[in-house]
Amino acid sequence: MKTLVIGGNGFIGTNLVDALLESGHDVCVFDRYPSRYRGPLPDVSYIAGDFANHGEVAEAVRGVDRVFHLAYTTLPQTSNDDPVYDVRSNVVDTLQLLQSCRDADVSKVIFVSSGGTVYGIPERIPIAEDHPTEPICSYGISKLTIEKYLSLFQRLWGLDYVVARLSNPYGEQQNPYSKQGAIGVFLGNVAQGQPITIWGDGEVVRDYVYIKDAVKALVLAAEYEPGPRQPRIFNVGYGRGYSLNQIVEEIKNVVDMPVQINYTPARPVDVPVNVLDISRAERELEWKPQVNLHMGLSATWKWIKTIGKGSDRLVEHKS
Ligand SMILES: NC(=O)c1ccc[n+]([C@@H]2O[C@H](COP(=O)([O-])OP(=O)(O)OC[C@H]3O[C@@H](n4cnc5c(N)ncnc54)[C@H](O)[C@@H]3O)[C@@H](O)[C@H]2O)c1
Repeated sequence: MKTLVIGGNGFIGTNLVDALLESGHDVCVFDRYPSRYRGPLPDVSYIAGDFANHGEVAEAVRGVDRVFHLAYTTLPQTSNDDPVYDVRSNVVDTLQLLQSCRDADVSKVIFVSSGGTVYGIPERIPIAEDHPTEPICSYGISKLTIEKYLSLFQRLWGLDYVVARLSNPYGEQQNPYSKQGAIGVFLGNVAQGQPITIWGDGEVVRDYVYIKDAVKALVLAAEYEPGPRQPRIFNVGYGRGYSLNQIVEEIKNVVDMPVQINYTPARPVDVPVNVLDISRAERELEWKPQVNLHMGLSATWKWIKTIGKGSDRLVEHKS
């Protein structure tokens, strides 16, 4: 049975493809760009296409059993600049995808949502899936809207789905020279001999999950067969929070280079704290993250030292 990964050449996608292959899936990737850091894998088929092209997407889902939806056009920090673009390019194009999946008899869609933004400013920590959802950025609203449409398609047409509300993944294949992903960016700064820039006082707390742990949860989500009363929405995180200052302290224990820090004013889209309650995924998916912060930082640092800023694959592209 075939598994399609839309956005499969990105950070999460490449790691997910590896984990799917390990689990014996027949994998096809749909992406508009090649992978930044590695060539195509011999056991994977690749479709170069744009998610916004509905004909290409309809063609790609034909004969497919499970679809992972990872392509997204906005980031939490910038989504409020143009909410119309966020809705058109993410919500509307995802609805087209869901219609194509329904028409092609796809059995399940797995959507990577955002545990860091759908809840907004938390009322309690750790945040369980039934916590109120009051996003403070358009990105969180569009993710939540897509979750609601997934539920509607399941109710109306039996298109099954699982939502992974992912926290802050980090690790190999995450571009350390982009604007997203504090751990990757910090390690990228260190690798280049530049100071780490921290927005605010560094006391913002996040739930950082190592990517190889996170994608294991996604594979289990694809294989999960929920009964009518079982949940379809899962938090996927480490289940423990670290402040940016704590991350920097741990980075100092891992890297073999000097670490300097610059503090700059806080950003309005950053909620002060976000730590996910992952007990539902532990129970239902029988999953548990295995890699602690020190181990994950060490593996990420080792990888960052191998890529080099000058490589072609580091050429910036918009995704
Ligand atoms: N990285 C995180 O911190 C994080 C956290 C929570 C949720 N997510 C979600 O996980 C998903 C994957 O994130 P990522 O970090 O791997 O991002 P990424 O930018 O590394 O990868 C996304 C991939 O999607 C492709 N893509 C984007 N728009 C496309 C389009 N129109 N047509 C075809 N391909 C397109 C890109 O080329 C890229 O290869 C996204 O939905 C993102 O919102 C990410």
